[in-house]
Amino acid sequence: MSETAKIILHPELEIGTIDPRIYGSFVEHLGRCVYGGIYEPGHPTADSEGFRRDVLELIRAIDVPIVRYPGGNFVSGFNWEDSVGPRENRPRRLELAWRTIETNQFGMNEFMRWCKKAKTAPMFAINLGTRGIDAARNILEYCNHPGGTYWSDLRKSHGVQEPHNIKTWCLGNEMDGPWQLGHKTAHEYGRIALETAKVMRQVDKDLELVACGSSNSRMPTFPEWEATVLEHAYDEIDYISMHNYYGNKEDRTENYLAQSLDMDNFIRTVISTCDYVKARKRSKKTINLSFDEWNVWFHSGEADKKIAPWSIAPPQLEDVYTFEDALVVGCLLITLLKHADRIKMACLAQLVNVIAPIMTETGGKCWKQTIYYPYYHASRFGRGRAFDLHIKSPVYHDDQFDAVPYVEGIATVSDDKQTITIFAVNRNLKEAINIEGDCRDYADYRVLEHITLTSDDLKAQNTAENPDRVVPESNGNADLSDGKLSATLPKASWNVIRLGRV
Ligand code: AHR
Repeated sequence: MSETAKIILHPELEIGTIDPRIYGSFVEHLGRCVYGGIYEPGHPTADSEGFRRDVLELIRAIDVPIVRYPGGNFVSGFNWEDSVGPRENRPRRLELAWRTIETNQFGMNEFMRWCKKAKTAPMFAINLGTRGIDAARNILEYCNHPGGTYWSDLRKSHGVQEPHNIKTWCLGNEMDGPWQLGHKTAHEYGRIALETAKVMRQVDKDLELVACGSSNSRMPTFPEWEATVLEHAYDEIDYISMHNYYGNKEDRTENYLAQSLDMDNFIRTVISTCDYVKARKRSKKTINLSFDEWNVWFHSGEADKKIAPWSIAPPQLEDVYTFEDALVVGCLLITLLKHADRIKMACLAQLVNVIAPIMTETGGKCWKQTIYYPYYHASRFGRGRAFDLHIKSPVYHDDQFDAVPYVEGIATVSDDKQTITIFAVNRNLKEAINIEGDCRDYADYRVLEHITLTSDDLKAQNTAENPDRVVPESNGNADLSDGKLSATLPKASWNVIRLGRV
């Protein structure tokens, strides 16, 4: 006999408006994300600019609102000037973060043109590792100033007449990490972030600026780093970044599926830290969060050790995801939505080939990894407002977390209130769980579709040879009548229950 979880869908349980940019992603000059991923002149599907149309199609299907670029660790050694102008003049450089050779054949203007085709917006990171304020003001003048100055006219001479008007900028990347080129202490970074932000706003006052938070919640300097950086830069920045990756190295699936609780705790701590500094400063301004790197990352470690240094676009960080990874990504998406009131941007890292939902063969096909599906569903259906479901679920015990609810879930209501989507994961690996939902305030809605993602093998993967081993089906049994919702969440499953007003 299956256990039951109870949920309540109630208008008073609104969390907040979902910023669509919570479904952002990330393109770094790393491995085959750019070369052989989004850009491959000569590929059978490449357009006149060398952008792979097969990849663009999968990206547009997700509807990715914002893409962070060009790094990541890469940005901390990046000379942006190398990446613009005639291709034949662009230098090949040693890329120190990932120990490759960067050819610069794809650069800033190509990225901006690609964004248009991908129907997305840029989130551009500047180099605060090996460079600083001067490079920041120059790149901004190149990108956003209409013309009549050295850098804006240089842009025009590169064939880009209209300014790019890039609004969202990251002030460096993971500056707390000793691995970062130009790593800084919190005080050093807080100061440079403040001064860079001030100068950038003098060039263009309509910017949104993201300061670096901790590289992950296990950093010894977390959360003191956030407190110190905010102490310096609070008045000039809009967001603090968060990064975290999860994995199942020890093959403890129940613990792995519970990692979204760790993400939840991380988010709560960063919110508290922001608000602590707000109180200290007697400020009226609220700092929001940009969770601009998150995903599962652990499969590719051994393969990466075998890659020869100083190669061009080698297959780095090419995690081949399993079914259980898709469940974790589903739980992480639900967790982001639970904090829709404070998380305004988030980037699934990354978009193609490098720890990515989309894989390609250089010169060959492209396909959807298992994690593509929860990301696709959340982005397509999880727009509008987020609602807590007040879930009463049976729990299991795990040494890292006291009590882990078997059922993780969230509801989203579209702006026109015509559709509601419930996203739910059943973490129980052996048993289905029944849902009993009190939806009395939504008695005039009916189930449109109950999509499930299931597999009899937690380690099942989608590969070039077998790209459809793990695919969602519209086969769930959810029913809504007289304001009562019932549904069976199959064992170990991702569920999307779509309701519509009749
Ligand atoms: O996304 C891969 C890498 O992870 C990024 O370059 C870096 O910012 C993080 O450590």
